[in-house]
Amino acid sequence: MRTLITGIGQLVSPRGRGPVAGKGMNALHVRDGVDILIEDGRISRIARSISASKVDRAIDAAGMVALPGLVDPHTHAVFAGTREDEFLARVHGSPYDGGGIMETTRAVRKTSEEELARNARYHLKRMLAAGTTTVEIKSGYGLSPEDEVKLLLAVRRARRSVPMRIVPTFLGAHAFPPDVRRDDYISMIITEMIPTVRRRRLAQFCDVFCDKGFYTISETRTILRAARGAGLRLKLHADELAASGGAELAAELSATSADHLLRVTERGMRKLQTAGVIPVLLPGTAFSLKTEYAPARRMIELGLPVALGTDFNPGTCLISSMLIIIGLAVMWMGMTIEEAITAATLNAAAALELADEIGSLEEGKAADLILLKLENYRQIPYFFGHNPVKTVICGGKVVHETKW
Ligand code: NIG
Ligand code: FE
Repeated sequence: MRTLITGIGQLVSPRGRGPVAGKGMNALHVRDGVDILIEDGRISRIARSISASKVDRAIDAAGMVALPGLVDPHTHAVFAGTREDEFLARVHGSPYDGGGIMETTRAVRKTSEEELARNARYHLKRMLAAGTTTVEIKSGYGLSPEDEVKLLLAVRRARRSVPMRIVPTFLGAHAFPPDVRRDDYISMIITEMIPTVRRRRLAQFCDVFCDKGFYTISETRTILRAARGAGLRLKLHADELAASGGAELAAELSATSADHLLRVTERGMRKLQTAGVIPVLLPGTAFSLKTEYAPARRMIELGLPVALGTDFNPGTCLISSMLIIIGLAVMWMGMTIEEAITAATLNAAAALELADEIGSLEEGKAADLILLKLENYRQIPYFFGHNPVKTVICGGKVVHETKW
């Protein structure tokens, strides 16, 4: 199958097969007037005036901007129920302490795998229409062996009917269920849940909410060591509510990413840099919680490869569009638009260990790309809240088309 895209106004992409760090994040590759030839799901050529002979499908981009499919490396997109009362109370001054996780857990426990999959599918389709072609989804609202497995099976089920790349993460250590003793729950995670997740291939990553009031450094270390022993890759919810040393632990364990980092210390950032851990920043959460943002500028100065994600979840962030996240990163974390695009594509792919396959528009990579009805990429944060995504292509197939 050969598809040719012509008439691209501006092709915009970072370059490389690994994360781009520090100053390099500004070095977007921008080309005018090039065509893209896709063969068997991969980009086989990017050049001017590619001949249209023997092409099965021709797409006229009509002067639009082409970007790599957006990659969302951090979501909690499988859940049941809503928490608007908690949200409104917080807007009017109540603090966030993570207590609402149990409310969602109660709703999830009463919901079938099929219904959870339907809920997830709805959110995934909205994300796809907003240009996300790869998304990570965490469990974490089951908090028992059966319910955590049910959530991951729901992700698997949703995956079959949504044409995106989906990366599941096991987050059994998201909170402590009130019906089990703390130590017993941790042993349940280690002796029951992690082995099941591995045996049934339910997740690629294991994550822990390592923070004040949740999992301590030593509990997190024990769980993540067991996960690594079972062949899972590691992620941490680190330094979101307090500077609790999560970044330092992510570095010690050589985790793939440390996420949130709203309150990370200078020492924590330096350790991440030395250990090659990717900081995944989630400005939608800081925005919705009305707290300070992660120190993205300092991280870039220190030479870190910053990635961006939504953190889409029913408690702290209902934003599911990566273009909105790019806008927030530019407006509130001081990132340049070029840095933010790199962070939402190639570096986000690296946070899922997929940077050699996706995250940039280059010959040999998978053909995941989006066409935006904009005159140039610098209009992305300017048109904040618009959805300019016209066409979404994943693995060489047109998987979404907006009709205006
Ligand atoms: O990433 N920090 C932990 N978990 C979620 C929120 C969980 C919730 O409140 O439901 C987060 O912000
Ligand atoms: Fe999160």
